[in-house]
Amino acid sequence: MKLNNIEDFIREIQMTSLEKAMDRAAFVEQFRIKFLGKKGIISELFEEFKTVPNEQKKEMGQALNRLKTAAQAKIEEFKASVEQMEQQSQTSDLTLPTDYSEVGSRHVLSVVMNEIIDIFSRIGFTVAESVEIEDDWHLFSALNFPHDHPARDMQDTFFVEKEEGKQEVALRTHTSSVQVRVMENNKPPIRIIAPGRVFRNEAISARAHCIFHQVEALYVDKKVTFADLKQTLLYFAKEMFGEQTQIRLRPSYFPFTEPSAEMDISCNICGGKGCNICKGTGWLEILGCGMVDPNVLEACGIDSKEYSGFALGMGVERMAMLKYQIRDLRLYFENDLRFLRQFDALV
Ligand code: DAH
Repeated sequence: MKLNNIEDFIREIQMTSLEKAMDRAAFVEQFRIKFLGKKGIISELFEEFKTVPNEQKKEMGQALNRLKTAAQAKIEEFKASVEQMEQQSQTSDLTLPTDYSEVGSRHVLSVVMNEIIDIFSRIGFTVAESVEIEDDWHLFSALNFPHDHPARDMQDTFFVEKEEGKQEVALRTHTSSVQVRVMENNKPPIRIIAPGRVFRNEAISARAHCIFHQVEALYVDKKVTFADLKQTLLYFAKEMFGEQTQIRLRPSYFPFTEPSAEMDISCNICGGKGCNICKGTGWLEILGCGMVDPNVLEACGIDSKEYSGFALGMGVERMAMLKYQIRDLRLYFENDLRFLRQFDALV
């Protein structure tokens, strides 16, 4: 046995690396058996050591111990790096699904609002928008509201300015105010829809909220008739709630339309048979509508002898409630993800 050999083994151990090994754990085990196994190089050297002449024993013994320590240290190093690589390969396993990243989605009210806009756009209506803080003229007076109408009361309307002798200013209570602004600034033919936020002084409950959304539609031209209104309503109802949907009109009253009506659709949940959503009637109330009152046309500078028009207005929250069977208005505004996520798939 040569001292040189031992130094060569030490060098070999130090130079050995795991890098090129296909199966690292197996490689480490082979390496261990080769040097530290029962019949491995080191035990053979220790066997031979017994025959070493006494004067060489000290030097040889020290060299052998260095070899053994080097082999043990190398194995520890290999084991640690195999473990680390295993952990790394677990976190970068390309066959695993990717990290889930949150993708935002539209609020159900936006989805429904966009759908209404879309349906009316297809028959030539364009979107009109206006202010949310509105004066008395555009909110009430031009729309033929009598002076003692409850909407002019603090109990129903959030007033921003309400001073004796001054024009009142309020958060708009309906999007019908947009009608007035459009008619004042445009000549017929006018065909607009006005989507937007409205505000009413209501206690918040499952069925009422102080903020909600409406879509108003207005069509003014020569010879616009109630038949045009009916056909538009039927088209809208079928597009929104399905081809099988039927409509019915009930006489009603709004200051700004004459005649006025409320439209019901056949209940899309029970198909008209009667259920707890339609309260057994088979019909669901959907919107208000009518022929624009000549007083309103005149107030907005449109000659009511030459032109006529129809208007309709609906609540977006109610549309969404009926379409997706949402039972409580408050859910729309609470931002509870358990509610919002149910509509993720809608675009
Ligand atoms: N502005 C009404 C409301 O807020 C809704 C409405 C009813 C609008 C009839 C209309 C209409 O244009 O013709 O309750």
